[in-house]
Amino acid sequence: MQLTMIGTGYVGLVSGVCFSDFGHDVACVDKLPEKINAMQHGEVPIYEPGLDDMMVKNIANGRLQFTLDLAKAVGAAEAVFIAVGTPTRRGDGHADLTYVYDAARDIARALKGYTVVVTKSTVPVGTNREVERVIHAENPDADFDVCSNPEFLREGAAIEDFMRPDRVVVGIENDRAKDVMARIYRPLALREAPIVYTDLESAEMIKYAANAFLATKITFINEIANLCEKVGADIKSVSKGMGMDNRIGNKFLHAGPGYGGSCFPKDTKALERIGQDHASPIKIIETVIAINDERKRQMADKIMYLCDDKVKGKRIAVLGVTFKPNTDDMRESPSLTIVPALVGAGAVVHVVDPQGRKEGEELLPAVTWDDDPYEAASGADAIVVLTEWNEFRALDLMRLARVMKTPKMADLRNIYDPVEAKEAGFDYVSVGR
Ligand code: UDX
Repeated sequence: MQLTMIGTGYVGLVSGVCFSDFGHDVACVDKLPEKINAMQHGEVPIYEPGLDDMMVKNIANGRLQFTLDLAKAVGAAEAVFIAVGTPTRRGDGHADLTYVYDAARDIARALKGYTVVVTKSTVPVGTNREVERVIHAENPDADFDVCSNPEFLREGAAIEDFMRPDRVVVGIENDRAKDVMARIYRPLALREAPIVYTDLESAEMIKYAANAFLATKITFINEIANLCEKVGADIKSVSKGMGMDNRIGNKFLHAGPGYGGSCFPKDTKALERIGQDHASPIKIIETVIAINDERKRQMADKIMYLCDDKVKGKRIAVLGVTFKPNTDDMRESPSLTIVPALVGAGAVVHVVDPQGRKEGEELLPAVTWDDDPYEAASGADAIVVLTEWNEFRALDLMRLARVMKTPKMADLRNIYDPVEAKEAGFDYVSVGR
């Protein structure tokens, strides 16, 4: 099938590359000439394990192309995917849909023959109907249907999530569009991936409800972790014991410094606004947002407390600044609250991150970047584990303690065993233990 992706951000690029790997002919459209040029030459603009190889392979076999020519790519396609950004609108928390409607107008003018216009961007309930209206207003003769096909990719595991999804959600209005979507996802259906066909509004709601639920699950376990610290319980055992209940499940029960990333913060805020706008506020989500914001600040306090509330002039090594491992993404990362708080209190901060430096240098200007954890820890008064990269999971704690001025560790991802850390000489704090 001929497919076109509008937008080559995370979702658009990963989806486009994976669709081409299914055997479809995919054209990925973007407005940035430099980006298109780089991608034509096999350069991947993001860090995502496995994406570069799959991209190069499918460019070479002619199934994947990158182009600035939206009209040509749309005209040739059986389905056009809108995968542009929907950032939080400044000031009011709403999802900014400017790029979505701009894309819809551009597509409308270029449509040729029956085409399904599929929204992959995360959009508030009602947006697909508005996309339909916008296209019809722009081009009343266009023969098209709209489809809501939200994406559930996790950064760092995006290809795996695309190729082996728990489910694919398809919101459609008739069998004609359903047939096109079924053919697009046939390779997944053959692997028995469940496909949920539903109406447009429900598909839009599934995405927000799923992300808000996961953000709530994380926030719940973080609150329980706080209480564990007070009563002498161990959050790791508590999570394990809870997670064995099939109704709860063991995923997303890791206590930490608060959720970040490109989705949970943005989508919880958007859902909060959708609820308020429809006079049906979702109080639990309003609370989750407030708790998560506060949590990042609490983590800075935890580090200060470890340093006897005196960090001025002290050297603090920070391991990991991306919002999670296996990504270079810094969006809404807890590090963006915690590191500036330490710097603001006068600490001298040294940072190590396997992929975060490129974005991080601008966002965390007042820190020193080191390549190696032992180098960062050298002469340090404290070390903080902020992102659980594999590279940080098996450090030689004895050696680490030896190179530090005072061996103090705040392990905000619970990757070390408290007993081992103490045996290595660390004054050790973690989360919920
Ligand atoms: C998320 C959703 O998982 C995905 O389905 C959606 O499409 C986009 O948003 P992503 O943002 O890539 O994906 O990362 P994810 O692995 O879900 O982690 C999000 C945040 O939650 C990270 O900051 C992570 O550190 C935190 N987290 C996750 C926890 O603190 N504890 C957990 O148990 C799990």
